[in-house]
Parts: sequence; C-alpha cells; structure tokens
Amino acid sequence: MSNKYKMTISRLTVDKLGVKLYDKVSAVIAELVANGYDADATKVEVSAPMGEFLATKTKKKLKDKGCAIEVKDNGIGMTPEEVNDFYLVVGKERRTDPKRGDRSPIYARKVMGRKGVGKLAPFGVCQKMEIISSGGKKIFGKDEGGKRKKGYLTAHLILDKSKILKDTDHAYFPDVGKLDGVIRPKPGTLLKLTMFDHRKVPAIDVFERQLAQRFGVSSPNWGVMLTDSLKIAGTQDRTRVVGAFTIAKMDNTEIRLEEVRKGRGKPTYSAIGPDGKRMTDITAGFQYEGVFYPVTGWMAYSKQPYRDDLMAGARIYCRGKIAAQTHIFNMKAGFTGEYDIRSYLVGELHADWLDEPDDLIRTDRRDILWSHELGQAFEAWGQDLVKKIGSMTRGPKRKRAWQLFEEASEISEVVAKAYPSPTQRAIRDNTMEMAKLLAQSTREEELQDPAHVHALVNLILLLGPHITLDRKLREAATSTDNPLSVITGILKTARIAELAGFGKIADDRVKVIKTVEQLKDDRSTLESAFQDLIEQAPWLINPQWSPITTNQALSTLKKEFQKFYKLRTGNELVLADFSDPKKQPDFVLSSQDNVIQIIEIKKPHHGLRNDEMERIMPIRLPPKTPSLPHDAACIAR
Ligand SMILES: Nc1ncnc2c1ncn2[C@@H]1O[C@H](COP(=O)(O)OP(=O)(O)OP(=O)(O)O)[C@@H](O)[C@H]1O
Ligand SMILES: [Mg+2]
Repeated sequence: MSNKYKMTISRLTVDKLGVKLYDKVSAVIAELVANGYDADATKVEVSAPMGEFLATKTKKKLKDKGCAIEVKDNGIGMTPEEVNDFYLVVGKERRTDPKRGDRSPIYARKVMGRKGVGKLAPFGVCQKMEIISSGGKKIFGKDEGGKRKKGYLTAHLILDKSKILKDTDHAYFPDVGKLDGVIRPKPGTLLKLTMFDHRKVPAIDVFERQLAQRFGVSSPNWGVMLTDSLKIAGTQDRTRVVGAFTIAKMDNTEIRLEEVRKGRGKPTYSAIGPDGKRMTDITAGFQYEGVFYPVTGWMAYSKQPYRDDLMAGARIYCRGKIAAQTHIFNMKAGFTGEYDIRSYLVGELHADWLDEPDDLIRTDRRDILWSHELGQAFEAWGQDLVKKIGSMTRGPKRKRAWQLFEEASEISEVVAKAYPSPTQRAIRDNTMEMAKLLAQSTREEELQDPAHVHALVNLILLLGPHITLDRKLREAATSTDNPLSVITGILKTARIAELAGFGKIADDRVKVIKTVEQLKDDRSTLESAFQDLIEQAPWLINPQWSPITTNQALSTLKKEFQKFYKLRTGNELVLADFSDPKKQPDFVLSSQDNVIQIIEIKKPHHGLRNDEMERIMPIRLPPKTPSLPHDAACIAR
C-alpha cells in the first residue's frame, strides 16, 4: 500500500452533494463518455459484454461473473498530480477552477462536467474501478520496459467502493497499479470497471441509441464506438459507431430555433418556420428578469408515432448532454390537438444556461427543476411553442392522412365507378368531400390497416348520396324558382341514397351468407363461431327475427316463467341461467307473435344424440295452459 494517491470522502459528502449512484449501465457509461468529451478526446471506445447480465443472482446471493467494462478515450489524460488534484477530489467545480475552466483546452468545447462527481457514477453498478491515465506535457522518462522514452506520464490506481463509502470523513489511499509512473507514447485515459452488481448491459443497438440520445452532439472530431467484448473480431454487430440521433420528421412541420452570429457582435436568435421564413410569434428563447435565455434546436412532428421512449417529445440538452425529456412541458391534459402532440411531437432543444448560474438540473440528472422560477419561465415558453406547433401542424398532418387514404383506397376511381352518370356529379363531389373529411381525421395507424380503409370507403359511399339529398332539400327550402325541377332532382337523389342504403345492407348480408357457407362445411368450426354469426345476423334463421340482446330481458323472462310454472303446476322449474355463459342456451329468439323459440346450435356434421334429444324437452307444460302461447316450442338444455 502506498500513500501516493489520496481521496477524502465520506458517505455524508456523497449524500450532501446529492450524488446519485446510477443503477443503469448506459447512464454510468454516459458519465464516463462525457468526461472523455471534456478531455478533448476525438474517440471514446466502450467495450462491454452487450446484452448480458454482469453478475448472477441466485437466492439473493450475488455472484460476479468476472466481466469487465472498459471505457478508453484519447483525450488529454491526467498525470498522477492531476489525478490527485482533480480526479480524486469529490465535488470540486471544474468550470470555476482556473486550471481547467469552462472550455476544453484544444477544441474549446463547452465542457459538460460541472460538479466533480460524475466519476463516482460507476459505483452504482460495480465495486472496483481501475484508472490508467497518461497526460500532462511530453516529457522524458522510462517506458514499461524500463527504456528511456519521451511521452506522457502515467497514473495507475485502483478504486474500491467499499473503502470509499465509509460513514465518516476519512482519507482513502487507493491501490497503485504497476503502470504507475511509466511513460507512454500517447495521452488518454482507460477506465476498467469490474466486480459488478446484478445489472444488465443493453443490447448493442439499444445501447447505441441510448448514447446517441444522451449526447445529441455530433461533430467531425468526436465519436463514440461500442464493442461487444463477447464477440470475436470480424463478427457481425461486434462494433457500432454511435451516430447522430435521427428521427424522420413529417414534411412541413419543423420549426428551427437558430443562433445567428455576425462577426464578433452578440448573437441573435430567431425561429424559422416550415416555409423557411422567420416567425414573428415564436422566439428562440425567452426573457426572465431582464435576461434573455436562448433556446436553439428544432421541434417538429415525427413521420411515425413514436415507437420508443428515447425519442418521445422534446429532448432538452445542456452543453450537448441530455438534461430532460418532456412531452408537452408539463401541460395539463385536455388541450386542442393533445393526442397528436403526445404521439408525434419530437424535438431537440439546446439550453446551455440550464446549469448556470442557477443549476436547474436535478441532482440525479434525470430532469430539470421545473418548479424553480426560471424553470417555470422555460416551461411557459415551451408550452406556448408546443401549442403553436399543434395548431400549425394540423394542416400538414391532415394532408398526409388524405394522401395515405387516397393511395390506399383509390377513392377517386371507386367513387367514379359507384356514381358514373354525368347527372351524378353532385353526388360524386359530395362523396369526395365526405371522404376528405373522414380520412383527414383518421389516425395514421388506422389508415395503414386495409380492413379499416375498406370499411371507411363503404361508409363514404353510403353517406355521399344522403348528404347530397340533404343539401338538395335545404336548397329546395330556400329556392323559389321552378320547384318541379328541384323536386325531380331531389327524387332522383333520394332514390340513389335509398339504393345505396339497400346496396350496403345487401352487400353485408351476402358477406354473412358467404361466411356461413364456409363455416358449415368446415368440420373444425366450433359452435361458438355459429353463435357469434347468428347473434350478428338473426335474419339467417328467419328474416323477421331480431335478437333479445340484454340479459336483463332474458333473466326477467326466466324469473317470470319460473313463477308462472310453479303457480300453474305446483312444481319447481329451474331454467338454465342465461347470464352464465356456460349454461346459456345457444340462442333465444323472439318473433313478433308472442312465441319464444330457443335454438340449439351444433357444430357442422354433428348427429343429434339421444341424450341431447332428451335434454331438448325437459319442460312439459300441462296440456291446458291457457295463457301460454299454444305453439311454444321450448328447447332448453
Ligand atoms: N477521461 C478523463 N480524462 C481527463 N480528465 C478527466 C477524465 N475524467 C475525469 N477527469 C478529470 O477529473 C475531474 C473530475 O471528473 P468528474 O466526472 O468527477 O467531474 P466533472 O466532469 O468535473 O463534473 P460532473 O460531476 O458534472 O461530471 C474532471 O473535471 C477532469 O478534470
Ligand atoms: Mg464528469
């Protein structure tokens, strides 16, 4: 044990700083990647057993699997002295530290780090963390083999969670690794995490998207690469380069919030509408207590309703790192266009002031402190923007729905074929108008379902003539000239409307008959299939029949009949309970002439058995039962 490295920390310090030890592997890795970004790395390589649990857990007993996660960056690294001064000090604000500052030294990146606690994140998922970092100025020294070389001085130390998180403030001296003090040819940092809790690494594609969503930054000199340590080189899906987080946007729905810099003057901010013109009713930021807080980025509707939570709503970034995600800026439910906004609104907003001078980012870094006064002002601005986009995008969304419907249904041809005569022009026009109205307010998922589109077309064809008739009647009521010709027009349209209605009924019935034809020959048909069918279409048995649909009516009938039977015969009669699906007679139908007929439905090719026949007539009414319908054929089970 050496006292070369020293860390002073306690559980109390950790609690006071509000350090939340993340429990998600991707969030932990994101912190380490952020540190690489701040260190001006152009490449961060993450190697992990993708899609795997890092430890096993049986009967609450945790067993480490010997896995490792490595995060390696080619940034400026740290010398042993810097490790002591910056890395091992917990809670030291880097932006106000004159040695490090607000911007990275090479690329002048606005640094993501702020609180000096991110490095502790891995202890949310593992027990051990090894750090090998080479940095500082290029100097002469000895390399690993003891040869004199020019390069970067290396710090090598191992942190142990159980020793760090003691209850009292204490000095902790991490173990020193064997590369400590050697010279290495390139600067950079390698972090190796081992001894894991029961946590899972996401599958490589999920991991890639999660990191892409968290950073939202893409630039030519910055890249994160993921490697699946379980796969050998050259196999498919072994590596992934984290790309920009892409979302397909619906045409003509995007509002861009831009920063414009002219020379050395102060930047200006403006909102650009989908038409490319500057918007006057939206600003790229807001005023609060006399200060302007800029917000840049974009908001739009996504082409598809979102499928994963990562892209839901507006992602809000502070210095390129995600700070919050909000669907609707905490707006209360029940506003116009809410459904669309909730399912389609997406955006990427950058608010680099979020963590200074007041820190609006929650200590667990999962959301913004919306209740803060500045947070409230931001929220109000966001809600306003969301509402405006809602009203602005209604047009494009409707247009898209109509296009989808037109393509899927070929409605123009269908209407032209249904109402072909030159005199039916008004009907055609009205039907198309109806089509537009209905299609535009139909959801995209429904328009992608051929059965739904078909049903919609039928409805439209049915409604067209009725609407035309209605309009003609209104016209007639206001028109004074030539009433006879108006009436002729009305009668013609009425007839078409009537025929369209009949046509629809006939069409539906033919469909049902076709289904029966199929079902009756199929030995695998179940009784229930027939039951369903006859329930929908009792006219299959008798054109005058209609189903008694409410159980209430049936149970009253049952009760009254049992009472009546007892009164007449003195015997108890227990009829099957209609409301119990297992005991239900297959069908009870009533026709208009006071007769109740109970039908027993059997599956195709079923021969009637004796026991079934016996069950058919358990109710023998006395021959002279005057108030019962004389031809009552009661078939019960
Ligand atoms: N990969 C790295 N390369 C070089 N220096 C690093 C690296 N990781 C951490 N450091 C140094 O250690 C310091 C502490 O890191 P830590 O993540 O704890 O805090 P931070 O990044 O300053 O702030 P935050 O808590 O917001 O992440 C950093 O400010 C930086 O000086
Ligand atoms: Mg950090």
